[in-house]
Amino acid sequence: MDSQILKQLEGYDRVITDIDVLKRYGYDYRLERGLVKKYVERLHPQIIDVKVIDIIEETKSTKTLRLASKQKYLPPFQAGQYISVIVEINGIRTSRPYSISSSPDEIAYYDITVRRVEGGLVSNHLLDSITIGDSLQISGPAGNFYHNPIIHGTKLVCIAGGSGVTPFKSMIQHAVNTGTEREIWLIYGSKNADELIFDDYFVKVASKYKFFHYIPVLEEGSGTYKGYITAKIIKEVVGDSSDKTFFVCGPQALYEHLLKELKPLTLKPKQLRLEMYGVPADVFAQPGWPKDISRNSTFVIKIRGKKDITVNAGEPILQSLEKNGIVVPSLCRSGECSLCRVKLVSGKVYQPEGVKLRQADRRFGYIHSCAAFPISDCEIII
Ligand SMILES: Cc1cc2nc3c(=O)[nH]c(=O)nc-3n(C[C@H](O)[C@H](O)[C@H](O)COP(=O)(O)OP(=O)(O)OC[C@H]3O[C@@H](n4cnc5c(N)ncnc54)[C@H](O)[C@@H]3O)c2cc1C
Ligand code: FES
Repeated sequence: MDSQILKQLEGYDRVITDIDVLKRYGYDYRLERGLVKKYVERLHPQIIDVKVIDIIEETKSTKTLRLASKQKYLPPFQAGQYISVIVEINGIRTSRPYSISSSPDEIAYYDITVRRVEGGLVSNHLLDSITIGDSLQISGPAGNFYHNPIIHGTKLVCIAGGSGVTPFKSMIQHAVNTGTEREIWLIYGSKNADELIFDDYFVKVASKYKFFHYIPVLEEGSGTYKGYITAKIIKEVVGDSSDKTFFVCGPQALYEHLLKELKPLTLKPKQLRLEMYGVPADVFAQPGWPKDISRNSTFVIKIRGKKDITVNAGEPILQSLEKNGIVVPSLCRSGECSLCRVKLVSGKVYQPEGVKLRQADRRFGYIHSCAAFPISDCEIII
């Protein structure tokens, strides 16, 4: 930075005085140069090269991939956060977020636990093509879905559906490993007992530690609680909800169902934390989707300074760009983190409920390309 500008910064004189004092006592501050940058890069790396060091089969459709850093260092994270896994499949470079399922106190690796999505590009690739020893690229840890005892207290009701149980595995294991004071109820909805991920682990922890209560709710088969997770079941297992914070994670269908079920509990807004879990699987069924736009509709997206592309209705713009070899940085792919912002110059897009656009973005025409579906021809600037 220009030394004349530096002199105008508040506190500049104080720093110069401090440096003089330090020099007088033999401290060479120049040895520290670049240290802050080094720590920032270590704590918030853009990309981490990792190696798959183990693969654990959890259920027929789910595996845990254990990832160790090739740089021998992984940034710390909060139990509940996710990483973005970056892959190239058949020439398409893309990414998907996966919650870290290991505990933050296990610093040598991150575990991610991936469930197969029928026809899904990345889940099938990770489950079928990745083997021990393979290399992957990941982002640093991200997301706000974690427990802060000052805000959320020490009584947590964790409600999961399917692979949405992964951040809770991290939170529960962290509580076991560190002995932190808390009480946790895990209410876990699953189609059947075979598809419960980490079932043996949760049963073992519940039998050993008083702080943890495990309540599987199965659509099919036997068990104490059958069908879907309801207000009745929640009330029965957790009792008074006024002193508890509810964490919910799972597919869109779980949220639609649970938000109705949680209404009679009259939770205050700060008592309810919802993890995002991607954009709706079927955008055509969403409220407000224009009825005249069908699955066969196509649109042209003009990308300023680049080529025009033809895209299918019902596909987020980010996905269409990636399919055409255009990479836009992304993390959450759920419309929350803002990393995939692009400017919509003309045309219309559909943005599902819950997409968090900043007021300034809305005002100046920015959209989250991961959660914006074209409903007319458009022009964008990346
Ligand atoms: C913060 C966050 C954390 C996540 N953590 C995990 C995790 O720990 N484990 C895990 O397995 N997944 C997790 N996911 C979901 C994951 O990111 C992918 O969306 C999922 O693996 C599907 O990707 P895909 O490429 O296989 O499917 P895609 O090719 O993206 O999608 C294929 C089809 O399936 C639909 N679809 C996409 N995702 C789902 C879904 N989850 N259920 C039903 N249909 C779907 C799509 O709309 C599309 O029609 C998380 C998502 C978020 C946002
Ligand atoms: S990738 Fe996070 S908002 Fe799009």
